[in-house]
Amino acid sequence: MSFKIVEQTTPRLNRCELAVPGSSPQMFEKAAKSNADVIFLDLEDAVAPDDKATARKNIIEALNDIDWGDKTMSLRINGLDTHYMYRDVVDVLEQGGERLDLIMIPKAGTASDIYAVDMLVTQIEAATGRKKRIGFEMIIETALGMANVDEIAAASPRNESLHFGVADYAASTKARTTVIGGPNPLYGVLTDPPEGGGARDYHWGDMWHYAVARMVVAARANGLRPIDGPFGDFSDPDGYKAQANRSAILGCEGKWAIHPSQIPTANEVFTPSEKEVAKAKRILEAMEQAQKEGRGAVALDGRLIDIASIKQAEALVKQSELISGR
Ligand code: GLV
Ligand code: MG
Repeated sequence: MSFKIVEQTTPRLNRCELAVPGSSPQMFEKAAKSNADVIFLDLEDAVAPDDKATARKNIIEALNDIDWGDKTMSLRINGLDTHYMYRDVVDVLEQGGERLDLIMIPKAGTASDIYAVDMLVTQIEAATGRKKRIGFEMIIETALGMANVDEIAAASPRNESLHFGVADYAASTKARTTVIGGPNPLYGVLTDPPEGGGARDYHWGDMWHYAVARMVVAARANGLRPIDGPFGDFSDPDGYKAQANRSAILGCEGKWAIHPSQIPTANEVFTPSEKEVAKAKRILEAMEQAQKEGRGAVALDGRLIDIASIKQAEALVKQSELISGR
């Protein structure tokens, strides 16, 4: 192991993060009653320029008045290149009470972007005597953000998670997309002709593999949660599930829902199965037993268990405890 210990961020369930436009207050109550772990109230791209001020007011009211239960509440502010962003932070933090947990910073490009928001939030917290410290979620959704993803992840002790914003990322990198977050049939591999002739196979590839994997590495190396962003076609639940599974396998802890119908699928994919949890518990029991008996090496079902599996087992059991506590 390295001498450097990676501090883990505040543990939170983040299996499904529901996007709710601040300009659609009629959606707030339903969102509050949903099964999403995190809700982000949006002031950015789901809100038209003329509606920004009203959306801000709606969000302030909703944070004060609606019972959001035990959900983690986040606010997606506008980009640092707009003139809306400072007022998003100032107004919502000053007038929205203590309910907000996180601020989501879109199109994060450099560590200085995070530093700037941190400075503003730190001043407001001090001036207002806010008790709960605001955490940060950063969307990695530009070529610049991906190029600087490591420094962004390390930019502030407030940082909690990195999110892959596939729609803006595709625009920024000029990637050829067909649907937000889905595959492109032209991104595939044609197999060689079989010996003796016959048809060649064509396998669709995952054009987002590098981006998601790169973000996961930066997040995990800094103790943050990696979260997969939107899947645009909400009339394609199978496509959503396939993308969620790919992200989960690469290490993501959750995925956005841009429509309530996507929530149960995200929860299902990012909840460890009973079998996985049972195995993790057995690993921890075997470790405890070995410690009691003064044995250094731990074995289970005839296989040696290494430190990495023990850590994974601990994280899994902790996550399942959080889930059963909901
Ligand atoms: C999210 O903000 C995205 O651009 O995909
Ligand atoms: Mg975006």
